[in-house]
Amino acid sequence: MILYVNACVRAESRTNRLAKALLDKLGAYEEVRLTDLVMKPLNEESLGYREAQIEKQNYNDSIFDLSKQFAEADLIVVSAPYWDGQFPAVLKTYIENIYAIGIVTKYSEDGRPQGLCKAKKLYYVTTAGGEYDPRFSYDYIEYLVKNVFGIQETELICAEYLDIEGNDAEEIVSKAISNLDERY
Ligand SMILES: Cc1cc2nc3c(=O)[nH]c(=O)nc-3n(C[C@H](O)[C@H](O)[C@H](O)COP(=O)(O)O)c2cc1C
Repeated sequence: MILYVNACVRAESRTNRLAKALLDKLGAYEEVRLTDLVMKPLNEESLGYREAQIEKQNYNDSIFDLSKQFAEADLIVVSAPYWDGQFPAVLKTYIENIYAIGIVTKYSEDGRPQGLCKAKKLYYVTTAGGEYDPRFSYDYIEYLVKNVFGIQETELICAEYLDIEGNDAEEIVSKAISNLDERY
């Protein structure tokens, strides 16, 4: 199963358009549109509840549905616009919510994470108004999925300088889409 984690916020999102062009090449997919989910950042109550379920190994609870879907995907495409040097908060909220020990990762006796996710690759698709600096978005996602979730390969697909005066954003996005046509 190909999982599309859509963290785009705007209905006319160019990032979503670029990601969908990639998905067209990859095949049928399941989409999780993060802004449509009833999902909150963890608080003391929700964290405590999750820890109690993990302690009891009660992985049938619906709070684990998103984690299981992520862990079971064979291929993952994440799309997120470049916001504030990073990505929209809804993506961090999703990561907090899927990060369940025993589903996406487990810890060895010496405290090292051992990834449990099946996906062989994760694509991170983004567009930026100016120059794209990957340090706090793609680099962070790459660190997390490789070191903690066990997904060995990641790839960045990016179109930048969309909002620079005088630039033709449509042309930049179209070029990024035709680059995909050449590569896949
Ligand atoms: C809340 C917000 C924060 C943004 N922050 C940045 C930024 O830090 N650097 C940048 O180059 N562009 C920034 N942009 C511009 C977006 O990266 C750019 O418009 C992008 O293409 C939006 O993607 P979308 O069309 O998928 O919504 C920001 C836009 C918004 C709405």
